[in-house]
Amino acid sequence: MTSAPTAAPPNAPILDALLPILCCPRDQGALSPEPAESRDVRSATLLRCAICDAAYPVVRAIPRFVPTDDYAGNFSLEWTVHRKTQLDNETSRISEDTFRIKTGLTPDEVRGKLVLDVGCGMGRFADVIVKWGGRVIGIDLSLAVESAQSNLGGTGRFQALQASVFGLPFKTESFDIIYSLGVLHHTPDCKKAFMALPPLLKRGGHIAIWVYSSHTFPDCGVDEIRDGFIRRFTTRMNSRALHNLCRALCLIRPRWRAFWHMLLPGFVYHAIPRLHSYKSYDWRVLDTFDWYSPVYQSKHSYPEVCDWFREAGLCDVRPLRFEVAVRGHKAAGGA
Ligand SMILES: C[S@@+](CC[C@H](N)C(=O)[O-])C[C@H]1O[C@@H](n2cnc3c(N)ncnc32)[C@H](O)[C@@H]1O
Ligand SMILES: [Zn+2]
Repeated sequence: MTSAPTAAPPNAPILDALLPILCCPRDQGALSPEPAESRDVRSATLLRCAICDAAYPVVRAIPRFVPTDDYAGNFSLEWTVHRKTQLDNETSRISEDTFRIKTGLTPDEVRGKLVLDVGCGMGRFADVIVKWGGRVIGIDLSLAVESAQSNLGGTGRFQALQASVFGLPFKTESFDIIYSLGVLHHTPDCKKAFMALPPLLKRGGHIAIWVYSSHTFPDCGVDEIRDGFIRRFTTRMNSRALHNLCRALCLIRPRWRAFWHMLLPGFVYHAIPRLHSYKSYDWRVLDTFDWYSPVYQSKHSYPEVCDWFREAGLCDVRPLRFEVAVRGHKAAGGA
């Protein structure tokens, strides 16, 4: 096992914390910024592995550990168009409230901590960490990293990396806190994606995830079967065309709810839901696109997810109130 990296002081800028914990995803080799006079990863043009000589480019101040956005092109579009839609502002704290409910984490637990956001999207939850006084590294497979970096890079407490959860460029036991909200069920193998995370957690650290619920959305439910059929087409559509379709659908008035529910249950749930009527038009378009566009979409139960946590050697495994959110803890003395 790689020894724990030397910690940067808790209030140092994020770039001081990043280089000591970065490594080559293929062989865990140390990475050096080139050209040699670069002061940090943002000003480098590439990062080179000391073992295999692989070169990872740094483009627009973001290190890239994957050559493309692979199956996540829909998310590249989603988070480019909706770069700010879900960011908290003076009048809204929906992301902060959602973060509390889905992770159980509090500002006291986060302050001064080094945090990994797995599948950060445009950074709505990383923004909460920054405001709570933590420092956060956000990874994402898609071009969402461009939006996240532009939203939060200027804080000095956030850095985005384009990488896949299946090839993370970090040394073991690097982070105080790891969370992943709404991401792992959009990968080809949700459990395998989760299992990549606990080794990166420091002893005594906390981890929280939220995945789609098979309690709320059972695969055998009539609505799910109908939406599963529709998704066979929408996941193959050009992302821009599907997004335009969602924009048109979201103009529909709620009084036709029953009719639309019969045709497109996921649309009614996400675009004109009874409980979320406070959501703006853009937010409803985003949620509808987010339901019908992802290539992978799996659902999971509390017992299943809690078992993953225990199998990974985590303790204090706690199902949270929001289905299916679970948090756990890595014992200070090991498993
Ligand atoms: C529904 S979005 C959630 C984004 C963010 N967590 C949020 O809640 O706003 C799912 C994200 O997972 C990312 N993703 C999918 N597969 C991934 C993978 N293998 N590695 C890293 N990120 C991935 C997508 O690019 C997308 O940004
Ligand atoms: Zn290497």
